[in-house]
Amino acid sequence: MADTIEVLIQEEQIDARIRELAKQIDADYAGKSVVLLTTLKGACFFACELAKRLTIPVFMEYIQAASYEGKSSTGTLTMKLDIPADAITGKHVIIIEDVIDTGRTLSAVKELIRSRSPASLAVCSLLDKHECRVVPFEGDYIGFSIGNDFVVGYGLDWDQKYRNLPYIGIVR
Ligand code: IMP
Ligand code: MG
Repeated sequence: MADTIEVLIQEEQIDARIRELAKQIDADYAGKSVVLLTTLKGACFFACELAKRLTIPVFMEYIQAASYEGKSSTGTLTMKLDIPADAITGKHVIIIEDVIDTGRTLSAVKELIRSRSPASLAVCSLLDKHECRVVPFEGDYIGFSIGNDFVVGYGLDWDQKYRNLPYIGIVR
């Protein structure tokens, strides 16, 4: 049977919010260049849209960390793709994430990136499920705060499905 997907955030709302985030980042990093360090695969859609709206110089880098199977966090972080330290050291790095959930992935990723001595380090996430935290973690730039529903679309998947939906929805 086909899954039912209820729209939570419309494409137009996402687009408008990304423009606001880009303005804020442009202002905060005026006169500097930034490395957008995107976590594959989910944050790719968000990162590309954000990058296109930024007017400061942008460098794109990618890492892949996995802690999820199906709809639940396994709690163990594995790095499937890493980047060399020289892409990070001395640079202004913004980690781009699709959603902060338990906080486990990003606290581990942030610690790893910090160990490579960036000039500065911030986290920008399209979504934040604040009530789901298992470890304390705060993002610096958040698109939307949402509840604890499992969401798909705009890069987010459910077992690799639905990433290409242009909106964010809840699987019912
Ligand atoms: P955390 O370590 O629990 O914060 O996990 C964050 C990661 O889990 C995200 O990068 C997503 O890949 C995945 N994730 C968490 N919640 C959802 C969701 O609602 N839909 C799709 N993926 C999710
Ligand atoms: Mg992810």
